Amino acid sequence: MDERDEVERFQRELQEQILEDLRRTYSPVAIDHWMHPRNFRSLEDPDGYARVQGSCGDTMEMFLRVRDGRILECGFQTDGCGPTIICGSVVTELAAGKTFVEALATVSTSEILRIVGGLPESHLHCARLASETMRRALADYQYHQQAPWGKKYRKT
Ligand code: FES
Repeated sequence: MDERDEVERFQRELQEQILEDLRRTYSPVAIDHWMHPRNFRSLEDPDGYARVQGSCGDTMEMFLRVRDGRILECGFQTDGCGPTIICGSVVTELAAGKTFVEALATVSTSEILRIVGGLPESHLHCARLASETMRRALADYQYHQQAPWGKKYRKT
């Protein structure tokens, strides 16, 4: 076995070890969102936007594009932990395709936790950060429906 094969084998074993550790704590759904986050992006000139700092000091940004009263696209960014990526990914899937009212009725910390099969106690605040950021982005969208000129002064 040459040196390159040795390095590749080491990387594979390391990855498998990391996954094994994750499987002990997180559901397959949660791991899938962690490894393949949906909608992890920003949107130009969003119709709804929020940036929230969680209790841990990490932040999440949420971007919404709304057409004909429905959320056409969602995007999120975060400098937070893996569970925050899981929750941001799930919350964007929850809101996409819904009306403002439907999204507001659906998005909650408990719904995120239900979908991901729970999170460790020390990461429950990550789910709260994702739901709070989405709800504020929805509120921002609603506000700018009434006051569209305000978008010019919004910092994204
Ligand atoms: Fe800060 Fe998860 S968002 S630890």
